[in-house]
This record gives sequence, structure tokens and C-alpha cells, in this order.
Amino acid sequence: MRVESASPPSQVAEVLALLADEMAQVDAVIAQRLSSDVALIDQIAHYIVHAGGKRMRPKLVLLFANALGFAKPARFELAAVVEFIHTATLLHDDVVDESSLRRGKPTANALFGNAASVLVGDFLYSRAFQMMVSVDRMRVLEVLAEATNVIAEGEVLQLMNMHDPDITVESYLRVIRFKTAKLFEASARLGAVLANASPEVEEACAAYGRALGTAFQLIDDVLDYEGDALELGKNIGDDLREGKTTLPLLIAMERATGEQRALLRHAIEEGEQEKLQDIVAIVRSTGALESTREAARTEARHAAECLSHLPPNRWTESLLEFAIQSVERHS
Ligand code: IPE
Ligand code: IPE
Ligand code: MG
Ligand code: MG
Repeated sequence: MRVESASPPSQVAEVLALLADEMAQVDAVIAQRLSSDVALIDQIAHYIVHAGGKRMRPKLVLLFANALGFAKPARFELAAVVEFIHTATLLHDDVVDESSLRRGKPTANALFGNAASVLVGDFLYSRAFQMMVSVDRMRVLEVLAEATNVIAEGEVLQLMNMHDPDITVESYLRVIRFKTAKLFEASARLGAVLANASPEVEEACAAYGRALGTAFQLIDDVLDYEGDALELGKNIGDDLREGKTTLPLLIAMERATGEQRALLRHAIEEGEQEKLQDIVAIVRSTGALESTREAARTEARHAAECLSHLPPNRWTESLLEFAIQSVERHS
């Protein structure tokens, strides 16, 4: 399948309007399930959930469920579940990464402290499990139990790679497949599971999610160097400060002069954020950001190819759009 947009603009607009209606239903489920009698949980959970966010993962559940003809309310419940899991990982991730800005606002850890953020993250995780049990499908539980487990492994693997300039591209890719692509994969797969799709179709959906999630994190890692904090709602340069050896740095180290390479290595080892401007200049001069974007485009193309296993309809077409947009994004 080609990666260029294939749908006439009117059809894209129509699906977007339908999706917006469906997302309003997901937001209603989120609002209903977010509540707790414990005031601090209520306060923090509402704070982060209502700060916005692109809602990529719930949209994937809905797009795949609809593409495969599943139209029952369980899709809204599972869409809310994946957003809760995602939000829980963000609460934990911002503590681990010591980040101060998320969705254009101070992070929960900056406002309420690390302990409260971690505990409310646990609340959201466990609420998500209560909700998925209500769908009463063992396969759904299997998919989400595995995904949350792998995400945790990804975050720990990343912790082990911290401040190490010698990690391999394979090791980096493993981390992003685990920490990010796994939930995209699970979201796409859930649409197929709900629709009782054949194993072949379910695998194609999962492969789309995996490739899209990988592309999405590659772009996140580019934007950490060349994005705009205002547009992105997150601080730029966080990855370097944390000593994260992301693909832009790996490519830049490979292409840089000896002197530049020494500077990059030192910045990773020490997390020298004050050198950000110099590092960005080196990374840019090697073309590493463009090459990382290209790697993301390759993943997005792969995602698009997986769609040939789905019935051709406007939802499937919009999944093609979705793949394109997530690599050309700036926020
Ligand atoms: C942020 O995810 C974490 C990554 C996997 C890069 P999103 O960029 O989807 O975050 P929100 O939900 O839109 O804020
Ligand atoms: C996000 O990784 C992965 C998870 C939340 C599991 P990052 O640390 O790169 O995400 P941002 O940049 O903080 O959103
Ligand atoms: Mg982070
Ligand atoms: Mg990031």
C-alpha cells in the first residue's frame, strides 16, 4: 500500500468527525472511571488526564475496532483502559526522568511530589485492570497484562542503559519497542480481538501498532533535540540531561569527527545539559536528525503495508493517514 494519502479530503474529514464523536464517548468513560473517594488521587488523576494529550492509543483501538466492524460499547471501555495505562506510565516516567513539563503544564511530580505521582500512577494502572476485567474476555487480559509487563521491562532496560554511550542501535531499538511500541501494538491488537478477527488479521494489526509505535518514539527522540517546547508541551533536551543515548546521538557519534565524538560521549556520560546547544549543533551537522526521521518513515511505511490485510474501508484508509501524521508531527 502506498504511504501517500489515498482518500479524498471529504472522506478523511468524515472519518475524523466520526472519530471525534467516538472519542467524546471515550472521554465520558474516562471521566466516569477516574473518580476516587481519596481526594489527592482525584486531584492528581484529573490534573494529568485533563491536561490534554493526543490520545493516540485510544484512537488506535477505535480505528481498528471500526475497521474490522466491531461497533459495541466495549471499544470505548478498552480505549479508556489504554489511555489510563499510558497516563500511569507518564506519571512514573516523569518521576524517573525528573521531568518538569508535560502536556504544557508542570508535571505531577513537580507539583505534588514523586511519592504522590508514583502512587497515583499505581492507582491508574490498577483501575485500568478493574476496567478490563469488566469486558470479560480472557484474551483482552492476556494482551494488556503482557503489554504492561513489557513496558516496565523497557523502562528498566532504559535505566540500565543510562549514561552509556556504547549501547548498540539494537539495544536502543529494544528499549523503544518495549517502552513505547508495545502499548501501540496492544491497542491495535485489541481492536482486532474485540472484532474476533482471524489470527492473521490480528497479527497484521499488531504489526501496524508495533511499527507505528516505533516510528512515534523515534520522532519523540528527534523532537527532544529540535522540537519547540511550547508546541511540544515538554522541555527540550531532557534526553541529554538524563544521559539517554537515543538514535540521533548514536548516528551522530558514528559520523562525527574524533573531537566531536569525544564531546558527545562526555555529554552522555555526565548528562551535560548546559552543553545542549553545542550538542544540537553537532547532531544537526551530521544529519542525524534527518536520518532518524527517515528511520521513522521506514517504520511508518511498514505500518502502512500491514493494512493490506484489513478490509478496505474508510477506517482502514484513515489508519494510513494516522501513520503518515505521526511521523510528520511536531507535537
Ligand atoms: C509520550 O506519549 C510518551 C512517549 C511514548 C513518547 P505521547 O506523545 O502520546 O503523550 P500525550 O499523551 O500526547 O501527552
Ligand atoms: C516515554 O519515553 C515512554 C513511556 C512513558 C513508557 P520518554 O521518556 O522519551 O517520553 P517523554 O519524552 O518523557 O514523553
Ligand atoms: Mg520521559
Ligand atoms: Mg522523550
